[in-house]
Amino acid sequence: MERLGIDIGGSGIKGAPVDLEKGDFSRERLRIPTPDPATPKAVAAMVRDITRHFKWDQPLGCTFPAVIKKGIACSAANVDPAWLGTDGEALIREVTGCPTLLLNDADAAGIAEMEYGAGKDRKGVVIMLTFGTGIGSAIFIDGVLVPNTEFGHLEVRGKDAEHRASARIRKEKNLGWKKWAVVVNEFLQRMEILFSPDLFIFGGGVSRRHEDFFHYLKTKAEISPAVLENRAGIIGAALAAYRAFK
Ligand code: BGC
Repeated sequence: MERLGIDIGGSGIKGAPVDLEKGDFSRERLRIPTPDPATPKAVAAMVRDITRHFKWDQPLGCTFPAVIKKGIACSAANVDPAWLGTDGEALIREVTGCPTLLLNDADAAGIAEMEYGAGKDRKGVVIMLTFGTGIGSAIFIDGVLVPNTEFGHLEVRGKDAEHRASARIRKEKNLGWKKWAVVVNEFLQRMEILFSPDLFIFGGGVSRRHEDFFHYLKTKAEISPAVLENRAGIIGAALAAYRAFK
């Protein structure tokens, strides 16, 4: 079974058909730079180009870095404000002609990790965190997702957690792994008080560097790097679309 997954990010819009038995791309991924400004119309046109490239007319899943409820973007922390209140799902369905599921980017990455990666067969409370421009989150209770958790916006020391501990902040402030781990630990401890998770899965580019900072992390929960790396969003979007349009 194959579904198309598309991952809309701040710098690139990436898509690939996914073989859902294998949990991996069945064709080479296509990446198009995100238009500037990244208005709903401009982004939807790129998504249409991706479907045309793959000659796709089946259901597709598409991620977006915002709260998504019934296809509508309900937040716009790191995206063009024109998205707020936009039914992105309907827009993409109209321009592509494909049955479309739109979902939060971290939820999609978490769905993929729970099915094929670090969270496979894991019961209990699992929290997936993606460290990039912001911090994305997805929480699973016995494998069931509670969507749109937005833990990156939890307030820590008077600031959004993602304004202290995202991968972007690490780079901007030129923080070494040890210094960055201090702010990440404060964020993890806040979540630990609230959810007592059994496992944290670390996604985003930092997952490849986990050997540089995992030993600095202080948490009672188990920690694991994401195994699907930057493919998780596309794979999770495709799987979610398969489940939505069976
Ligand atoms: C957004 C989330 C998103 C995360 C990662 C945050 O700023 O509010 O919806 O999942 O960034 O992209």
